Amino acid sequence: MDNNSKVVFRNNILEWYDRHRRVLPWRALKGKTPNPYYVWLSEVMLQQTTVVTVGPYFHRFIEKWPSIDDLARAEIEDVMHEWAGLGYYARARNLHKCAQIVSFSHKGIFPDRQESLIKLPGIGEYSSNSIAAIAYNKPANVVDGNVERVMARYFAVIEPLPDSKKNLKELAGSIAWGETSRSGDYAQALMDLGATICTPKSPKCMLCPLKEGCMGRAQGIAETLPAKKAKKPKPQKYGQIYWITRKSDGAILLERRDDKQMLGGMLGLITSEWASDSNMNPQPPIQIKESKNTTLQVKHSFTHFDLHLDIITAHLKSTQKPENSHVWIIPSELDKIGLPTLFKKAVKLMMYK
Ligand code: ADE
Repeated sequence: MDNNSKVVFRNNILEWYDRHRRVLPWRALKGKTPNPYYVWLSEVMLQQTTVVTVGPYFHRFIEKWPSIDDLARAEIEDVMHEWAGLGYYARARNLHKCAQIVSFSHKGIFPDRQESLIKLPGIGEYSSNSIAAIAYNKPANVVDGNVERVMARYFAVIEPLPDSKKNLKELAGSIAWGETSRSGDYAQALMDLGATICTPKSPKCMLCPLKEGCMGRAQGIAETLPAKKAKKPKPQKYGQIYWITRKSDGAILLERRDDKQMLGGMLGLITSEWASDSNMNPQPPIQIKESKNTTLQVKHSFTHFDLHLDIITAHLKSTQKPENSHVWIIPSELDKIGLPTLFKKAVKLMMYK
């Protein structure tokens, strides 16, 4: 692609962005200065999560913690509670750690260089580039799934993902690095184009500001791109989940999960270990009596495996000393305490069966 074509690409998409940019809760209005705290918070939330899901969480966070200093002073349990349901809980722990570093060691001001941003907890290659571009208008090559799709189609890259990742990133960079005055707008323009015009299904090529140069469109293959290598089937894991009630008041036993486990740091119902063998009958993790199989099962898909847990009802031995990590919660409070989706599903089954 010659230099002139790159300039045309950037001008066309920026002109389109000026007319069609999305209004998003974390995005500065046209001509206004972005709030780096909002940009960072939204970028961390948007890692692996959609704009629609993130919206209400973002609003609750900035209402509760209007600045990075407020978030830095929050209790980690409160942050985990507000994060519940967004998944990938290490993100919430890193978010809090990052807020503390920026607030206590950088006077509450985010670094403006990608090389410094990437050193902070929870900020990787992608987020450091997007924050540098969007919050500080620094030149950056911001490549997410949307941008990969736009590049694969524009350049008619037929090699399937993920093998084509490096190539798509280089193609994106060959255009992005030339944008020196509106890097933030350029990054967001590509995201918006991918989300609203160059959509995975039924792309609206007639409305696309890049249609003239799009090789995928010229070859009639845009919608089929990017090709994806066939995925291996997801592993399945099995186990038990315990609905343990206290006789005196019907309270339910929860535990705060260890930081090193899946869903680490979150409150949840007690579960056995999760094993690949469906016939293995793991020991209950605590001593219980009168346990009963319910025939109910919760299924939940994580990124790398599907989990099937049989629900078992039980009572705790009354003589048993409760563990530090254990908390009794009365059923009417269960909705309010912020549980990961896996546990919400089990609560729903048990409370409304
Ligand atoms: N996906 C990741 N970052 C985003 C942003 N800032 N706006 C819209 N979608 C995004």
